[in-house]
Amino acid sequence: MAATPCMAGGSATMMMLAIVSGLLIHHAIQNAMAVVSGNSCKRVAAKLLGPAPFRKCRLQYYVQVLVGDVSLNQNLLPPLNQSYSGPFGHAELFAFNATEGPEQASTRIGYARGFTIDSAYKASEIIDLIEVELISYDDGKYKGTIQIQGEIRAISPNEVAIVGGTCSFRGARGFGFIERVLLDGPYRRFHHDLHFIY
Ligand SMILES: *[C@@H]1O[C@H](CO)[C@@H](O)[C@H](O)[C@H]1NC(C)=O
Ligand SMILES: *[C@@H]1O[C@H](CO)[C@@H](O)[C@H](O)[C@H]1NC(C)=O
Repeated sequence: MAATPCMAGGSATMMMLAIVSGLLIHHAIQNAMAVVSGNSCKRVAAKLLGPAPFRKCRLQYYVQVLVGDVSLNQNLLPPLNQSYSGPFGHAELFAFNATEGPEQASTRIGYARGFTIDSAYKASEIIDLIEVELISYDDGKYKGTIQIQGEIRAISPNEVAIVGGTCSFRGARGFGFIERVLLDGPYRRFHHDLHFIY
């Protein structure tokens, strides 16, 4: 279940070397010919090794947050000037478990790691964070990372953009909804509902 690179291991390393040297030669030929269309790029990508490509439209999971745990560093960067510009500039770093179902003991399907930066300049009550997040996903069939970016405000759900991916999620594009479904003492739980557009 560990979210390791999708082509880890000795044979994969040899394969990478073969691919890289192959690509260098290929690149030289392509440069000489200088004809590369969008379609030929897709064909090259399809031939690269890796886990099964994820071609479904939707992916849902939960992110488990325990406030106070070292997996949430709420003091990565202090606000620039609290009295003048509120929380502007405050940054947090996180590394959470992602699970299949909402329960804490539910099967782990990966990790959600990233950071938020408070971008509400001279804010009063407004929470306005820029979030950059990497989902390391591995459910046994699909494996890889999904890159997410978006604006997080106090009122959920927040819509984020899927800006890319690796391995099963190469070339991923789309959007997602992040909704807080539990607020119980130090526990927070978020539902991620991702929609892919290919
Ligand atoms: C914060 O901003 C105020 C207003 O501009 C300024 O007077 C104060 O010196 C600043 N504080 C710091 C620590 O920079
Ligand atoms: C993630 O799950 C593992 C195993 O269930 C647990 O040991 C670990 O503490 C969890 N990590 C976080 C950050 O919640």
